[in-house]
Amino acid sequence: MEQGNSRAITTNQPGPHEKVPELVKRHLANESQKPFNQHTLEAFRQVQSWRHENDPQSLRPLIFDSCCGVGQSTAYIAKRFPEALIVGIDKSALRTNKHRHYIEDSDNYLVVRADVNDFWRLAYQAGWRLTHHFLLYPNPYPKSAHVQRRWHACAAFKDILSLGGQLEVRSNWDIYIEEFAWALRCAGYKASSETYHADEAHTPFERKYWSSGQSSWRVRCQLNRD
Ligand SMILES: C[S@@+](CC[C@H](N)C(=O)[O-])C[C@H]1O[C@@H](n2cnc3c(N)ncnc32)[C@H](O)[C@@H]1O
Repeated sequence: MEQGNSRAITTNQPGPHEKVPELVKRHLANESQKPFNQHTLEAFRQVQSWRHENDPQSLRPLIFDSCCGVGQSTAYIAKRFPEALIVGIDKSALRTNKHRHYIEDSDNYLVVRADVNDFWRLAYQAGWRLTHHFLLYPNPYPKSAHVQRRWHACAAFKDILSLGGQLEVRSNWDIYIEEFAWALRCAGYKASSETYHADEAHTPFERKYWSSGQSSWRVRCQLNRD
């Protein structure tokens, strides 16, 4: 990955998209009936067995690092939460196959290739509930016409909410995070955007943005209502 020359987001959107409340309302009112894709079903079964082997009674905290790319953040999160089981999920085999370069000696995490659209719904339907959910630098789809491709404005948003836990989303696009926070508020949660910085970058994209002089924003939200 190249360092230091990442271009800032260009968009025709001056602020959060006005359709966000309507999209959230529509997606929360509907159940997805889409059939699951085979490779994600297989990946989910693999993770299910791994979870059962490592936690037969499902007592350990469960964390998702969704759209984890090469899974550097997954390994970092695994060290930070040694008592938990962490699953890093990314649809790109090119990225998940590179995880071997980032492997840490923790045995409490797994990085799998799967589509989160299906993986989240499978996990929810299997009764899984998260303690934390990281979504770091999801694809922003900055064109206004592509708003429905963003996680907070598509059908999968309902599954993100249902899986629960402390959600943390980071992006180098302030509007994405403002919109995500707005979508969460539309769904009845407390959320606001903030700038984010740390001494050390935890993902390759974070490192690339920071070394190019860009800033990060994040939204954190407690999705468990009790
Ligand atoms: C901008 S990259 C960020 C990767 C990593 N989190 C990082 O910060 O280095 C976005 C990632 O989202 C993944 N992605 C996009 N749509 C996905 C989906 N439906 N299911 C799983 N991963 C997805 C892409 O493959 C890509 O690796």
